[in-house]
Amino acid sequence: MSSPRSTVILGTGSYAPARVLTNAELALTIDTSDEWIRTRSGILERHIAAPGEQASDMAVHAAQRAIADAKLTLADIDLLIVATITPDLPMPATACIIQHKLGLSTATACFDLNAACSGFIYALDTACAMIGSGRYRHALVIGVEKLSAIVDWSDRTTCVLFGDGAGAAVIGASDQPNIGLIGTKLGAYGDCVDMLFIPGGGSNAPATTASLVNRDHFIKMKGKEVFKYAVRGMEEAARDILEQHSIPANQIALVIPHQANLRIIEAIAQYLELPMERFFVNLDRYGNTSAASIPIALDEARRSGRIKSGDLTLLVAFGAGLTYGSALLRW
Ligand code: COA
Repeated sequence: MSSPRSTVILGTGSYAPARVLTNAELALTIDTSDEWIRTRSGILERHIAAPGEQASDMAVHAAQRAIADAKLTLADIDLLIVATITPDLPMPATACIIQHKLGLSTATACFDLNAACSGFIYALDTACAMIGSGRYRHALVIGVEKLSAIVDWSDRTTCVLFGDGAGAAVIGASDQPNIGLIGTKLGAYGDCVDMLFIPGGGSNAPATTASLVNRDHFIKMKGKEVFKYAVRGMEEAARDILEQHSIPANQIALVIPHQANLRIIEAIAQYLELPMERFFVNLDRYGNTSAASIPIALDEARRSGRIKSGDLTLLVAFGAGLTYGSALLRW
């Protein structure tokens, strides 16, 4: 029996809207301060989509950069997976909208995936399994969010944390063994749905005048509880994958964690007994962009020379669901 093909990241790209919203600007509209946001989260500023700029528009920019980086053309892509909790429309999938805007063939398989901030790792695993099967040649995996559309700008406990953006990766197969995606660990604490969720607008509670007045269509979060589960989930996901592949943490050249809160990342660094220099951090400039967070960070890490051939990289994330996931990559 032939062994499964290696699946590798051939190119990455990212995009952030031009508008930058600083902590100081937020402090002009809600009861907060730059000092509070910086010390509790590490965030200094975030990007906000322009009026009329859709999640699909941001995704197209990131995708074009990833395809160019992979030195491929649109005709080479036959699978598109979009990780998002902020689709342009409740239906159909934003992947279909992106297929058309980008100019991909109508023979491209297109679907969205909702695993919130762990979405890119879930989508990467799915794409690699589909490419590894030999039934698809090249996958475009996008993490994109327009969270500015679903945060309650009058709720200081959530709105200061999130931002907009998109990141993309092109996945293909390689004959070289032990390269690309080495493994993943995915999971979810499905008993914790109400710690981070949007109560209104789904089929359980379709939008009504009352639900709009109640602001049920915005993100609700129990920040302290989420913080604890974030640390637990990311620790478990990191530990399990390293144990599974018998890799000591100190062999990881770079950890690319979900960019939610600097204190969460510091807790993971302490747990893995790795210095913070081994962690890629850009949340100071983006805030939490959910499914876009890891692919934006991955793209910046690659383009700034932080990832070298032969390196082991660990991706680790946590999000609403409460989902968690990790992925181990060799370059
Ligand atoms: N500005 C100023 N004060 C604020 C504030 C803001 N933006 N948001 C909350 N506060 C206040 C609270 O009302 C509270 O006041 P009180 O003590 O008078 O009640 C105080 O600050 C402390 O709030 P607390 O919730 O204890 O802060 P914290 O240290 O837990 O930090 C978070 C809050 C949200 C930054 C933190 O819990 C967190 O990051 N949680 C995880 C969130 C996350 O990552 N979600 C996405 C997962 S993918």
